[in-house]
Amino acid sequence: MGNNFLVWILIFCLLHSVSGEGCSLILKPSRVVLGFGESVSVSCEAARPVRVLGWESAISAVHTQEDRSVQWKVDSLIDWIEEPICYGVFFTAPRQCEEKLNLVLYKTPDSISIRQANHSGPMVEGKEYQLLCEVQNIAPVQYLTLRWYRGQTEVYQHSFSDLTSSSPVQVSSTLVITPTKAENDAEYKCVAELELGPEGPQPPPTLASEPLTVSIYFPPTLLSPETEVLDFTAGEEITLNCTATGNPTPVYSWQSSHPIEERLKENAVITSTSLLPGTYTCTASNTLEKKSKQFIIKEKIKGV
Ligand SMILES: *[C@@H]1O[C@H](CO)[C@@H](O)[C@H](O)[C@H]1NC(C)=O
Ligand SMILES: *[C@@H]1O[C@H](CO)[C@@H](O)[C@H](O)[C@H]1NC(C)=O
Repeated sequence: MGNNFLVWILIFCLLHSVSGEGCSLILKPSRVVLGFGESVSVSCEAARPVRVLGWESAISAVHTQEDRSVQWKVDSLIDWIEEPICYGVFFTAPRQCEEKLNLVLYKTPDSISIRQANHSGPMVEGKEYQLLCEVQNIAPVQYLTLRWYRGQTEVYQHSFSDLTSSSPVQVSSTLVITPTKAENDAEYKCVAELELGPEGPQPPPTLASEPLTVSIYFPPTLLSPETEVLDFTAGEEITLNCTATGNPTPVYSWQSSHPIEERLKENAVITSTSLLPGTYTCTASNTLEKKSKQFIIKEKIKGV
């Protein structure tokens, strides 16, 4: 009883105590990184004769009046407590001092996911879109880095070092993209990494989202858009090539003053011996746009 009372008085006195260099308290180790639920043990040693030496903490507070060293020990740390403080009350000046333990209790995220934020379905090339990465229950957030990848390439890095919270939080990161058609079917993902320093686990714990595959729509692009002029020789095969790329895949239609065989009308390429001199126009279209191309079949002028 009396002893406890004395300790409380002494703790109260610590308000005026010294810490750092002049404080004769040594913590071993001085920085502790531990996973949620792991055990921890830190000793506090007094470098000169001490009256009372103890740990102030919400969990496993302890003190001694006999020894020059005292251990703070928890079998399984599952509380997001304040950093414990070792305090000493000495016979000579400075009479009181304290040393705060640099304690990092971490927890890898429960989940990480990625989605399109302000739009659903395929994207259109050249427009802006937002992708959102959400991380659930991570601690401490100030050690978190979120890395965005397109395929194997890191495209953006988001650090949360300006935040401070020792208990688990939910955070998110937004990536604004302006996709090109070359990025059709690209896979985006985000990866959470806890960089806890040399005392932490190596390599740093990471968790990756499932990949998000983005479809990029783009208008039909004719592989050779210029008008083509072809020579006509009766009975010879002529090829009209209207091939275009596009997403969705373009559909084709043909028009001419001459009748076109029904089976050829939706082809990208028409190869036939029955095409006649004149103009043939093809249209490649998808949901975004239509592109046309002309083929002019010219009768050879005899004798030239
Ligand atoms: C999505 O967000 C981007 C960037 O903030 C914006 O430019 C774009 O217009 C938005 N798109 C839609 C479909 O709301
Ligand atoms: C049509 O043209 C494209 C581009 O020049 C070419 O890759 C393709 O092989 C051609 N198709 C035919 C059937 O000639």
